[in-house]
Amino acid sequence: MALISASNLTKTFPGVGGPVTAIQGLNFQVNAGEIVGLMGPNGAGKSTTMRLLAGYLPATSGAAVINGHPLASHALQAKQNLGYLPEVPPQEDDLTPHNLLAFHAGAHGLPNVAHSILSTAKLTRCAAYLHRPMAQLSKGMKQRVHLACALIHNPPVLLLDEPTDGLDPNQKHELRLMLKKLAQPTATSPGKAILVSTHLLEEAESLLTRILILHRGQILLDTTPQDLAQQGRGDMGLAFRVLTTNRAGE
Ligand SMILES: Nc1ncnc2c1ncn2[C@@H]1O[C@H](COP(=O)(O)OP(=O)(O)O)[C@@H](O)[C@H]1O
Ligand SMILES: [Mg+2]
Repeated sequence: MALISASNLTKTFPGVGGPVTAIQGLNFQVNAGEIVGLMGPNGAGKSTTMRLLAGYLPATSGAAVINGHPLASHALQAKQNLGYLPEVPPQEDDLTPHNLLAFHAGAHGLPNVAHSILSTAKLTRCAAYLHRPMAQLSKGMKQRVHLACALIHNPPVLLLDEPTDGLDPNQKHELRLMLKKLAQPTATSPGKAILVSTHLLEEAESLLTRILILHRGQILLDTTPQDLAQQGRGDMGLAFRVLTTNRAGE
C-alpha cells in the first residue's frame, strides 16, 4: 500500500484578480523506501502540495491519504503518521533544540520524552548542541534540528519542503545521506516514504528514486533520475527546459 497518496488533489486560493489555482488534479503515490522529488520552478505548486499533504491546508477538491488515513476525515491519525518540514520554519531564535523537540514530543503525546529527544538528536546528529539557542546555530545545524522535530515520533512518512535550500555543499551532502538512510528498509521497518520538494536539478541524481515534475500546478512528468539525465529526448527535453528556463527567468 502507498504511504502517501494524492488523488485529483486541487487547491484554489481566492486572489485579488480572481481565484488562483495553485495545484490542479494531482495524482501520485509514494511507497515505503522511496524518496520522491517534487521538482519545479518557483510558483509551480510544490509548497501548496506539501501543505495539503501535511494537513496544514484543506484541499479544494480531491483527496490526500497518509498511510491509509484520509486527511479530510481522519486528520489526527494522518498527522501522527507524518513528519513535516515547512519551507520557512517559524521564528525560534530564543529557543533551544531541546525546547523545540520537547514541544513536538509533547504534541505527539510521546510517553518517554527524554528518551525520544536523545535518540532523535543522535540520529540527526544534533545531540552536541541541544541546549544552545537556535540563533547561535548554523543553517545546517538548524536544519538538522528541524528534521529531528519532524522525526521525533518516528513517522512512516516524511514531507520535506526544500530541505537542502540554503545549505552549503557539505551540509547538503550530509542531509541527503541522512534521508537515504531513513528511506532504507531494515529488519523492523520497510523504510520511510519521503517526499522532498526541490528546485535543484542536482538533487535529482544525488538523492531521488523518482521525480515528479510540477509545472503551473500540474504534473508534467513522472520519471526517474536516470531518464531525466538523458534530457535531450522528447518529453524529457521539455521537462528539463521547464526546470532550467523558469529559474533563469526569475
Ligand atoms: N496562501 C496563498 N494565497 C494565495 N495564493 C497562494 C497562496 N499560497 C500559494 N499561492 C499561489 O499558488 C501558486 C503556487 O505556490 P507554491 O505552492 O508556493 O509554489 P512553489 O512552492 O512551487 O514555489 C503560486 O501562484 C502562489 O502565488
Ligand atoms: Mg515553495
